[in-house]
Amino acid sequence: MSTIIDITLNVNLKLQINSKRIETVLTLHPYNTPNLQVTSVVKIKVYGIFLCMIATSSWASNPLWLEGKTAERYEITVYRSATCGCCKGWINHLEDHDFVVKDVTVDDVNKFKQQFDVPTQAASCHTAVVDGVVIEGHVPAQDIKRLLADKRDVRLLTVPAMPSGTPGMDSAGARKDDFRVYAISTDNRVDVFQTYSDY
Ligand code: CU
Ligand code: CU
Repeated sequence: MSTIIDITLNVNLKLQINSKRIETVLTLHPYNTPNLQVTSVVKIKVYGIFLCMIATSSWASNPLWLEGKTAERYEITVYRSATCGCCKGWINHLEDHDFVVKDVTVDDVNKFKQQFDVPTQAASCHTAVVDGVVIEGHVPAQDIKRLLADKRDVRLLTVPAMPSGTPGMDSAGARKDDFRVYAISTDNRVDVFQTYSDY
């Protein structure tokens, strides 16, 4: 017997950094990941807890994410939680690349991940749909456009979890973690679509 428990925690923090006061909301994202599966032997699996930081101070995105900008305009619908600041950062990034964004705030992002068949290991914070393709997490706009430009059998593009340094996770001073963009085909083959290291 197992019970699935979803948790969301919002923590308001007030920090004093270099004598500047920064107010921060920490959101522990539940989504697919921290489903606590409590079995009869009280075995708990936590698949990962994501931290999403909203700094109300300046948001300086990495200029790298504006490189290779193209003129194409696509309409994209983004499903996200209202408290997610990094989702908003990613939406700003899309708009910088001339995407027309329909920003939909929802109570349960997980519901949309299930609806769009996002595998648990592929999950991040927001889920988006553009031209019939599902975009999960902080995928750089350049990669989305590259995919949409050459027609493909890809149904989902994802940057799983929320690597620091990705578009929307690139506030001033953020660590730049290596990360990969994965493509999942209509027959569920997983390929590395793009790799970012030492950027
Ligand atoms: Cu995020
Ligand atoms: Cu997000």
